[in-house]
Amino acid sequence: MHITLLHNADADALEEDPGREARADVERVAAELTRALGKGGYEVSVLAVGPSPADIVAPLSARTTDLVLNLCESIGGDARGEMAVPALLDLLGLPYSGSGALALGLALHKDKAKELLVARSVLTPPFRVIERLARLEDLDLPFPLIVKPSREDASVGVDFDSVVEDERSLKDAVRRVLRTFKQPALVERFIPGREVYVSLLGNSPRTALPLSEIRFGQTFAGRPHIVSYRAKWETSSPECIDSPSVPCTLPRELEGRVVETALAAFEALGCRDYGRVDLRLSEDGQPWVIDINPNCDLHPQAGFARSAAAAGLEYSALALRLVDVALERTHGHPSRRPRRQGRPREAARSHRELLTRRGALRARGHRPGVAAE
Ligand SMILES: Nc1ncnc2c1ncn2[C@@H]1O[C@H](COP(=O)(O)OP(=O)(O)O)[C@@H](O)[C@H]1O
Ligand SMILES: [Mg+2]
Repeated sequence: MHITLLHNADADALEEDPGREARADVERVAAELTRALGKGGYEVSVLAVGPSPADIVAPLSARTTDLVLNLCESIGGDARGEMAVPALLDLLGLPYSGSGALALGLALHKDKAKELLVARSVLTPPFRVIERLARLEDLDLPFPLIVKPSREDASVGVDFDSVVEDERSLKDAVRRVLRTFKQPALVERFIPGREVYVSLLGNSPRTALPLSEIRFGQTFAGRPHIVSYRAKWETSSPECIDSPSVPCTLPRELEGRVVETALAAFEALGCRDYGRVDLRLSEDGQPWVIDINPNCDLHPQAGFARSAAAAGLEYSALALRLVDVALERTHGHPSRRPRRQGRPREAARSHRELLTRRGALRARGHRPGVAAE
């Protein structure tokens, strides 16, 4: 059984990249997952994706692969390329892990994602999209507000100055987003309160792993309690050291509402397989969805893997589970179905054999860690 692990290799693609650390991280994740899957008996080859579609299409057309593990978060240093990767894989007829192009695209078009949440009555902070500074004159949202790039993730473009309490700092923050990222700014109500993460795994059923939250320490006294880019990626910065992710304990009823809200948000965007939904808990006990991450960080030290470990799924078992979840779903992938009309839906022969072989592997006990499932 052959897995191709696809990741972006664009940490040095731009001279000045405000998201460089985030882009470099995916290469470490690829190495960790390759090791874990290798131990589990899979044959894994890693494909680093450059800026051209040929970087994906040519090597994948030339080899036999049973599943693509798609870790690509950007192409050529641009997060907007993320959604093109699953689209290409669909065209190639290759089964892959994680969400499809539509869900990835929506998650990275934060205003569109939020419109969907609003349509489904999933609580998310009120917001406006600002394309030009002049549009700020019509803004009818009360302070405090937070200003973020509307088409980035991984906290790219978010720092203490992103949280604003007056017209002048609002204008400065919007100007910075427009100039630096050449994309609209998302202005939304700032929700003070705890920041809680819900990691979701599987499709049917979809399970919420144990919740985690950010513990904001003394470094944040008198400053906005936010996971800025520094707090997330600059590991030696005081903000990063003083904002660890820790297990989150909530009263049972509130925990239930948090998980329900996360599931509804994940579903609204059509996400699948795995991902993380980030929420803030306002003082009146309402969970607000602030970010949906279908392509979340799968590093062993990042939130998703830690939540999995808290559920008894150590990293190597998690890696195998991610493959299983994708295979369970792609068993009926359209590209694997017979093309003639009138036949019952069934997985193509190659895929059935592939699943049988996996069974054999299991029976031979070549996959340590599976017991944790
Ligand atoms: N509406 C909000 N209220 C409070 N904090 C927020 C809000 N939006 C974002 N943040 C803070 O900013 C961080 C990054 O914002 P997020 O929307 O998650 O962007 P990204 O997709 O880049 O990760 C969050 O982890 C949170 O700490
Ligand atoms: Mg986020």
